[in-house]
Amino acid sequence: MTRILHVVGARPNFMKAAPAVLALRTRGVPQVLVHTGQHYDAAMSDIFFRQLAMPAPDHNLEVGSGSHAAQTAQIMTRFEPVVLREKPDLVLVYGDVNSTVAAALVCAKLGIRIGHVEAGLRSFDRTMPEEINRLVTDQLADLLFTPSEDGNRNLVREGIDPAKIHLVGNLMIDTLVRLLPAACRPELTGVNGAYALVTLHRPSNVDDADRLRQLHRILTDLSGELAVVFPVHPRTRRRLGELGLDAASSALHLVDPLGYLEFLALQRDARVVVTDSGGVQEETTYLGVPCVTVRPNTERPVTVDLGTNILVGDDLSRIRPAVDAALQGRAKPGVIPPLWDGHAGDRLADLLVPR
Ligand code: UD1
Ligand code: UDP
Repeated sequence: MTRILHVVGARPNFMKAAPAVLALRTRGVPQVLVHTGQHYDAAMSDIFFRQLAMPAPDHNLEVGSGSHAAQTAQIMTRFEPVVLREKPDLVLVYGDVNSTVAAALVCAKLGIRIGHVEAGLRSFDRTMPEEINRLVTDQLADLLFTPSEDGNRNLVREGIDPAKIHLVGNLMIDTLVRLLPAACRPELTGVNGAYALVTLHRPSNVDDADRLRQLHRILTDLSGELAVVFPVHPRTRRRLGELGLDAASSALHLVDPLGYLEFLALQRDARVVVTDSGGVQEETTYLGVPCVTVRPNTERPVTVDLGTNILVGDDLSRIRPAVDAALQGRAKPGVIPPLWDGHAGDRLADLLVPR
């Protein structure tokens, strides 16, 4: 029977891989799980294996942090002997992080088949490291599993054989559907009533000191009106620390990254979410919660066309009016995109191992 090896490495990979792992397990498929170690803090990695009921990784490459070139090269060097030893028939890679493209490059050179989950997304912005990872991974993949029709269109336009493209829907939403009943609000002192939820970690927002200072000022102002809960990504924590802005104030709650169940409950109950995360744009659309995305573009246009997402572009002065509109009940309504239904992992598994 087909032997499948999954490669995960960074926080959003876990929510995308779990449904595939579980669906293939119920079909009795032999599986190997490789964690690259791109994310390694317990709050960025271990907690998700427990909460999502994922098996522990069979291999951890423990690459850690580094420049793009250093991290990608380390993953490639350490992954190659593992994949040669494990001899999978297919390697599944997820999303758009450095672990995704590094594993795909190794497999392509070894002639091992690659399946890309979340194929075809495009921001058309090559200043984003993720866009480079998406373009390269999709060119190398043998099977391209897309979450939405726009993904199919992008791939066909780039010359990918339509026979390789399979619209299966959104695996990250499978995890949400499965675990929403178990979502559980964390105890946060001082957060009793309405609150806004914030995540920011894109280099374009947090690695630029002026922009990060301005964002912090906007959030501090907002916290004068309602509590702001901001689970801080380690990249952002470091940058805020460098600017001396990492102390929580009475209503701006800068907390450590949260577990999935805790963060999901906070999204569900938030009056508004302000983010630059890819996954959070999708989850808020599913939950019907207004989402203000601090980016000029998105590789997930269905969250804008159909969902609750709005992009405020590069102009930070647009954040507050967008948040106020949501607080006043004037956010645009949204619907759940097609095939974001909790069964994408099953559709993917059925393609790989027909029952
Ligand atoms: C990575 C992905 C990004 C994704 C994000 C999800 C790439 C190019 N970027 O960005 O697409 O949206 O993960 O969260 O793959 N750090 C820790 N502990 C950790 C992990 C990171 O302290 O467990 C710190 C280190 O200082 C590190 C920095 O965060 O240098 C950035 O980590 P890295 O994995 O390079 O990129 P992310 O910003 O996390
Ligand atoms: N998430 C989480 N805890 C947090 C922040 C985010 O569990 O404190 C989850 C979120 O629900 C989503 C995923 O992490 O499932 C998104 O990952 P992230 O924002 O790190 O990456 P991106 O989607 O931008 O690549």
